[in-house]
Parts: sequence; structure tokens; C-alpha cells
Amino acid sequence: ASLELGPYSHFMQKEIHEQPRAISDTIEALIDDGAFRSELFGTAAADIFRQIDSVLILAAGTSYYAGLTAKYWLESIARIPTSVEIASEYRYRDSVPNPKQLVVTISQSGETLDTMEALKHAQKLGHGYSLAICNVQESAIPRASTLIFYTRAGAEIGVASTKAFTTQLIALFVLSVTLAKERGLLAPAQEQAYLTDLRQLTSSVQIALNLEPQIREWAARFGDKEHALFLGRGVHFPIAMEGALKLKEISYIHAEAYPAGELKHGPLALVDSNMPVVVIAPNDALLEKVKSNMQEVKARGGELFVFADADSHFNASEGVHVIRTPRHVGVLSPILHVIPVQLLAYHAALLKGTDVDKPRNLAKSVTVE
Ligand code: G6P
Repeated sequence: ASLELGPYSHFMQKEIHEQPRAISDTIEALIDDGAFRSELFGTAAADIFRQIDSVLILAAGTSYYAGLTAKYWLESIARIPTSVEIASEYRYRDSVPNPKQLVVTISQSGETLDTMEALKHAQKLGHGYSLAICNVQESAIPRASTLIFYTRAGAEIGVASTKAFTTQLIALFVLSVTLAKERGLLAPAQEQAYLTDLRQLTSSVQIALNLEPQIREWAARFGDKEHALFLGRGVHFPIAMEGALKLKEISYIHAEAYPAGELKHGPLALVDSNMPVVVIAPNDALLEKVKSNMQEVKARGGELFVFADADSHFNASEGVHVIRTPRHVGVLSPILHVIPVQLLAYHAALLKGTDVDKPRNLAKSVTVE
């Protein structure tokens, strides 16, 4: 291995393991004097945050899944209507512009052509307020935006995004809380509780990373599979989508994600012993629903791989494998639960012998249409 890789075999593995550092640096950059402050998104942020009536998120790839996750936070914490759209779709669609809407672009590279063009399209339609959440300083998208927040993931080399994604989620969570505060919806005790949650997240992420040996054993069961299904509900549905994307882009195993409640509207027809079903099942309000969806899979001979957390009270049984992530981290749970699916994709790809850091046909930054 090169010096740069240290003890790791690939940049993707290294970047997965850098997440505690990337996350804590990003939190550090967003919290000032023990409080959420609008200024950290730009000098005009407080003003803009008070004027907007909704949010439109535009992004591509993994960054789009960060946006889908953020919709849950923005609506439940900041009570602000949010839509999330794939940049390459939005830019060619005849949409209804709203000048009181904040356009949020999310991009690791800050150079994705479709995201850049979608932003320009929104601006041409009369959207005056924009916020770029990017990882690469001074890239094209932040340069064209009114407000900017740079994630502190550091250079990301693996084509499949990992640490950029979790730091985007941190930025979007903090944005949700900051908007809530600016809109007078954040009680001081709640602000303190969110700060505590953020401070504790890094150590939970580290504990999740320590599950790697168990996840490697699971991956061995994916080596001879051609298809996989990822299930989640609520805020964990976008995490299931990100898990499916990771698996397909680096291991070339066909994977798709479904909100578990939709199982019986189609994908259940595909379930058999040759299609592993990965379930993101933390102990949240939807856990009982997810459990009954799992029964539907089990009854059809499907093999379940369940990422639960310590309080989910799952027991492994015939055809049901369970790995427990650390104690439930509340509203930040999607950030924790993406770690095991990243590791699963990585180890499945190793078994398949693919070029993990540079999967065929894909590029790190897509600057063409
Ligand atoms: C490419 C990369 C993905 C990334 C997507 C969006 O497809 O391979 O990892 O999520 O572009 O890139 P961006 O830089 O805009 O986040």
C-alpha cells in the first residue's frame, strides 16, 4: 500500500474510517460558542432564513440521497415544506418558481454539471436565495450561490462517496435546526439536546466502524448473489437507497431499495433464497411496522440481514442475521446507519474483485451531461 493509504487497502476503506474525524471537524465548523448560528452559512443567512417559505434541494447521486434524508429533518424540525429533486430532471422541467424558496444544492465536488445547470436554471426563473453545501472549496457551485457551507470531509478520492455524504448530512441537520431557531421554533432546552446529540455522534460512529469484522462475514454471503434488496422506512429509506447505490456501483451486484411498506406492491414477487434482503431497522417509531414487513420476507424464504440498534430487541434466527449498531442516536440515526451499509458494499466488492476506488464506467466528478 502507498504511504497515503496507511493501513488501508483502498481509499474507500480509508475514507469510511475517516468519518469520525470528518464528522467532528464539520460539527466544529458549524457550532459556535455552544449554539447554532445562522452566520455560519453566510452573512446574509439570518435574513434569508427568516424570509423563505420553503426549501428546494437539487443534487445528483449520493448527494441527492443526502437531500432526501434532509427533507425529513427540515419538515419535522424546522416545519418548512421541502422538495428534493434530481438536478438533471429539474433543469429540463417546466416547474413553478417561488422566489421565497431557498434553493439548496448539495455537491461533494461543487462541479457536477447538472447540479450547476439546475442552480442556474432556478436563478433564471427568479429564485434569488441559494445555499451551496459543498466539500471542495471555491468550486463552481458555491461560487454561484448566495450562501455557502463547506463540509470538512477533506479530499475524497474513492469514486463512491462516503465521508462526503455523512458530512453533508451533518450540515443539513444543522441547517434544519438553525432554520428552526431563526423561525422561533427552537426551545433553548431542545437546542442543548441537539448539541449533546451531535457531540456524542462521533463515538457512536466509531463503534459502528468497529463492526467491520462482522460485516465482512456477512459480505461473504453476497459474493455469489446477483441481486439484493434494501429496505428502510421513514428517514432510513434514503439510507436504504444509499446502501443499494453503494452496492451496485462498486460490487456490480444489482441492488434496489424500497420503503418496506411498498414490499407487497411489487418487490415481494422477487424474494427467494437467492436475493438477500438488507433491512435498516433502528428502534424508531416505525420499528414494529418494519418487523412485520420482515415477516413477509421471511415467510417467502428470503434471507434477512438486519442492521438494528441496541434497543431494537431483535433476535437472530434461521434466515435472519442481525448486527447491532450502538445505542439509538435519535434524530441523527440515519448518519449512524449508513456506516454499516458502506462497509457491506466495500467488502462485497472486495470479494467480487472489482476496482473499488475506480468502478468501471463511473467518474468521481461528472462535468459533462
Ligand atoms: C458521481 C460520483 C458520486 C457522486 C455524484 C454527485 O456520480 O461518482 O459519488 O455522489 O457524482 O457528485 P457531487 O460531487 O455533485 O456530489
